[in-house]
Amino acid sequence: MKMRQIYIISALVVVLVVILSAAFTFEQTLQEERNLSSDLQYRTRLLADSLTESVEPSYQVNSAKSLEGLLAKFTGRSRLAGLAVYDSKGQNVAASTDFPEAILTTPPLVADAIANDAAKGDYDQVYGRNLYLFAEPLHNTGGAVIGVLLVAQSADYIGSYVAQIWEGSALRFLILLLVFLLILALLIRLIILRPLHNLVESVKTARTRGETGAGLEGIREHAFFKPLVGEISKMTKSLLAARLSAAEEARMRLEKLETPWTAERLKEFIKAYLKDRKIFLVSNREPYIHSKTKNEITAEVPASGMVTALEPVVEACGGTWIAHGSGNADRETADVNGKIQVPPDDPKYTLKRVWLSEKEVNGHYVGFSNEALWPLCHLAHTRPIFRKEDWKEYRRVNNKFAQALLAEIKDVDQPLILVQDFHFALLPAIVKSSRPDAQICLFWHIPWPSAETFSICPWRKEIIAGMIGADILGFHTQAYCNNFMDTVGKEMESMIDLERFAITHGNHTTYIKPFPISIAFASDKPALPADRSVLEKLGIGTIHIALGVDRMDYSKGILERLKGVELFLDEHPDYKSKFTFLQIAPPSREAVAKYREYNEAVTREAERINKKFAEGDWRPVVLEKKHYTHEELAPLYRLSNVCLVTSLHDGMNLVAKEFVAARDDEMGVLILSQFTGASRGLAGALIINPYNGEQIAESIYGALTMPAAEQKRRMHSMRESVKNYNIYRWSAELIKAATSF
Ligand code: UDP
Ligand code: G6P
Repeated sequence: MKMRQIYIISALVVVLVVILSAAFTFEQTLQEERNLSSDLQYRTRLLADSLTESVEPSYQVNSAKSLEGLLAKFTGRSRLAGLAVYDSKGQNVAASTDFPEAILTTPPLVADAIANDAAKGDYDQVYGRNLYLFAEPLHNTGGAVIGVLLVAQSADYIGSYVAQIWEGSALRFLILLLVFLLILALLIRLIILRPLHNLVESVKTARTRGETGAGLEGIREHAFFKPLVGEISKMTKSLLAARLSAAEEARMRLEKLETPWTAERLKEFIKAYLKDRKIFLVSNREPYIHSKTKNEITAEVPASGMVTALEPVVEACGGTWIAHGSGNADRETADVNGKIQVPPDDPKYTLKRVWLSEKEVNGHYVGFSNEALWPLCHLAHTRPIFRKEDWKEYRRVNNKFAQALLAEIKDVDQPLILVQDFHFALLPAIVKSSRPDAQICLFWHIPWPSAETFSICPWRKEIIAGMIGADILGFHTQAYCNNFMDTVGKEMESMIDLERFAITHGNHTTYIKPFPISIAFASDKPALPADRSVLEKLGIGTIHIALGVDRMDYSKGILERLKGVELFLDEHPDYKSKFTFLQIAPPSREAVAKYREYNEAVTREAERINKKFAEGDWRPVVLEKKHYTHEELAPLYRLSNVCLVTSLHDGMNLVAKEFVAARDDEMGVLILSQFTGASRGLAGALIINPYNGEQIAESIYGALTMPAAEQKRRMHSMRESVKNYNIYRWSAELIKAATSF
């Protein structure tokens, strides 16, 4: 029954009660009116009879004056409105002073009493008063009618009494109505609403936490709800059974590595594993940067392996991504809370921007993250700079992001938090101390150096303590996990379990695991045919093309690559005018002196090599120091014969995987540094040591002369590897690990 129907029935009951109670009251007033009226008539008759006895003798002997004197004795009695005496012709002969003047002239009642020699009474309205008039004939001693005595009694009190009865009855009715409504509300609450609420809660608990029967105890015995409770219990049980089997199926499918992972499959998996739990991601770099140039606002996806990897994951699972708002139009495009729905063209999740001051950016990002931690973790022979002020800002910004995150998860039960990279080493412990129920994964996208190397950091203990606030700590390779375990063993008192790869510090255990990150390999989407006009625009007309795509970063080994190109042309001059090396190198971290210097060094080196080999219009090196979108990079990957990834040290390197993913023609050769995480999984690449220029040169030659069949064999094996271990599988494994300890 709907609430509306309950209200209609209640209203009908109230109307019925009103009608009945009005009918009863009406009946009661009629009765009272009748009683009062006959009582009045009786009393008037008695009065008239007794007065007649006094008036008759006086009337016969005395004048009108003495009659008036007699009548005056009776005036002022309660309810008596006046007395009057009429002669046998109906003419008034005497009247008390209070007798209403309007009826002094022969009223019909008087004439009637004379004509019939009989007493008569009737009601009359005089000057708005209700009067009862009673005419009693007067007789002489001979018995003849000599006049009439008229008694006027006030009957107003009968009306007032009846009105009082109506008022009392209405008041009683209102009180009863109020009590009725209160009882009704109480009953609805106790009998319907509360059990219903319990029922809803129980279904909700079954839906969200997978517990059946919770909250049903109180209502199970309730006769009214018994059948419903039975049905709901059955329904929730079958819902949970269906869920369990779906989760089981998802789990089984997760184990089946041969089936490809897609965004859809990840979504299904997350539903099965996380149920309705929410995901929060924290990183320094945001996935969309809004910039304004000449009043035009554009959104750019930054060059960042971390963003390339995580964006498709958050797109698939939804949730909130908290990051530094670094674009000059970021505030303008976000709401007052710094939030914006992204991707801008097809919103799927919330990006929450955190605003940082210049001082915070300089200390946290430029200083401690990029001048201390980056060179400390990358063995690229760039000396880390440790400044106390930078460390202070690093701590402050970690805390600031932790507070922003805590505010977001305030009302969320057991949130799953994915913290990204070396910018937030301290955040896991801060969040864990306030929210022990949160499941925190910290993924370190860059290498972890040896314990010996890391020991030069003045704040190494604080950094490690912050990191092991996470439940899962992920690195790209097993070697980085091993290095981290060694570092913890060297730096702090803790229990190190090498069998489970776990560190227990205080009461908290952190599991250290390798999760080789990847890209959203879309095997079902054939690459667009590459149009050579893109090369022509760059002035490239040679048959052989080698490609490099990197942020302008010293860890990427761009100088070493250029050296390799120079040695290749020295060794194989017949490739002059037939070979071009295209390097896409968007400027990166320009606030850091080392990056600016590196940019200048690469530019000088490219110019030097071009000068050395230039022939006519041909230049061997094309250096594009600008940002390319993924859509612009795709045809370049497909048009190149060789892709050069020569990082001196790299957590993973996704460019290598992007090149492989773009080659659905299974052609092209990947030259890959042995110091990248990617080299562990891409056995089909030509693996080189970037410090060995001759080896790079030889590999370029080997790649350009490699038979098509071998290219296909190698590319096929690499494509299989990237397809089988794409970013969707990476995140599923990470989430599985995070939720199963
Ligand atoms: N990238 C880009 N535009 C560019 C240069 C690079 O979008 O002009 C992207 C590239 O496609 C890749 C990412 O930036 O997805 C770089 O990732 P990688 O892991 O290779 O290196 P990272 O920069 O993260 O150290
Ligand atoms: C590496 C880091 C990322 C970072 C990216 C670009 O991939 O692991 O966290 O976002 O470089 O660097 P940037 O300083 O521009 O964010």
